[in-house]
Amino acid sequence: MPEIHKGLEGVYIDESNISRVFGDEGKLTYRGYWIDDLAQHSTYEEVVYLLLYGELPDQEELDAFTNQLASHREISDTTRNVIDGMADAGPMDVLRTAVSSTAEATEGEFSVEENRQHGIEIIAKVPTILAYFNRVRNGEEPIKPREDLSHAANFYYMLHGEEPTEVQEHAVNTAMVLYAEHGMNASTFTAVTIASTQANMYSAVTGGIGALQGPLHGGATETVVDMLDDIGSADSVADWVDARIDAHEKIPGFGHRVYRSVDPRCAQFARVYQELVDEDGESARLELIETVHEYVVEEKGLGEKGIYPNTDLYSGTVYSALGIDPDLYTCMFTMARVAGWVAHVLEQWEDNRILRPRVEYTGEVGKEFVPVEER
Ligand SMILES: CC(C)(COP(=O)(O)OP(=O)(O)OC[C@H]1O[C@@H](n2cnc3c(N)ncnc32)[C@H](O)[C@@H]1OP(=O)(O)O)[C@@H](O)C(=O)NCCC(=O)NCCS
Repeated sequence: MPEIHKGLEGVYIDESNISRVFGDEGKLTYRGYWIDDLAQHSTYEEVVYLLLYGELPDQEELDAFTNQLASHREISDTTRNVIDGMADAGPMDVLRTAVSSTAEATEGEFSVEENRQHGIEIIAKVPTILAYFNRVRNGEEPIKPREDLSHAANFYYMLHGEEPTEVQEHAVNTAMVLYAEHGMNASTFTAVTIASTQANMYSAVTGGIGALQGPLHGGATETVVDMLDDIGSADSVADWVDARIDAHEKIPGFGHRVYRSVDPRCAQFARVYQELVDEDGESARLELIETVHEYVVEEKGLGEKGIYPNTDLYSGTVYSALGIDPDLYTCMFTMARVAGWVAHVLEQWEDNRILRPRVEYTGEVGKEFVPVEER
């Protein structure tokens, strides 16, 4: 019997230069740069450049790249028709199908630059797809993208019909920087597996979206907001968590395959949330989140098992303060993570070998075939 690696835990499929998750220390780098620095000081455009080209751009390169991204924001009639026809479907289903529909004349073999260009076009269009869908399903007039706004500000503008304040723009930007990349997680692995067959960038990214949809991966943010609504106030935290743990259910927003300490992105989400609250005085949820955190990790002792908060514990409250509907939270994650998928796909193609694992067959062999009419 071969050794089985259930959940592929601890299995290394390749080497990578894109990001490093320091699970025990709770740290993260993109291309060697600390996530705290990038979250506070970089635009999403700068981070996409870093992920796709391997190094931070100088001002001239950044300006050119920012313009290039902005020039691809428009979506085609084909994509608009796809979204119009799916106005009642789930947001992640729409996003997956709409992204797939952006592939035009993409059969054949492509150079590295052409593949990167396909990736850039997808990254540019995802915010437009999402904002367009949200407005159509709410019976509102879709808003065309603007090239003079940043990636983050333009998304907010297309979604809400007004430009964000600086604090709101920074919050959207930070959320996108924090979610842009995270090593070989389930959705990135899916995208890379598809790419390893030499399918195109559109198939790889579409597959990544499918994998991100699940509640064990990108779909957890929404359940955290439901949990916080359900708990209501700090006094009810103990009862709520106890009942959940007694029923052997997981607490949303906790646990991670790699982190054995607090996810470093939580502090950055908490910071931008506080800035949003300070700006518009909306009722703060940080205290409730921190009470849940302390109760689960310390009082219930889950910290001893390596279970700590992950970003989902915080990101939903940021999105909520930005007026974003809960069923779009996984799409927000997707909008950012597309960059990581594209970077990994390009890296896979630098030195490709088809990904083809094995399963150990444990069923029967040599059974007698009986014709259907005799069974
Ligand atoms: C993220 C997650 C899928 C990781 O899964 P995994 O690496 O396969 O970890 P496991 O499910 O094997 O968990 C290991 C142990 O910790 C416990 N555990 C893990 N996450 C937990 C949580 N959120 N609440 C309570 N207990 C948890 C498991 O019950 C298990 O306990 P056991 O050893 O007594 O059976 C898992 O922690 C989870 O479902 N978390 C909640 C959903 C979530 O926030 N997902 C987004 C992650 S970015």
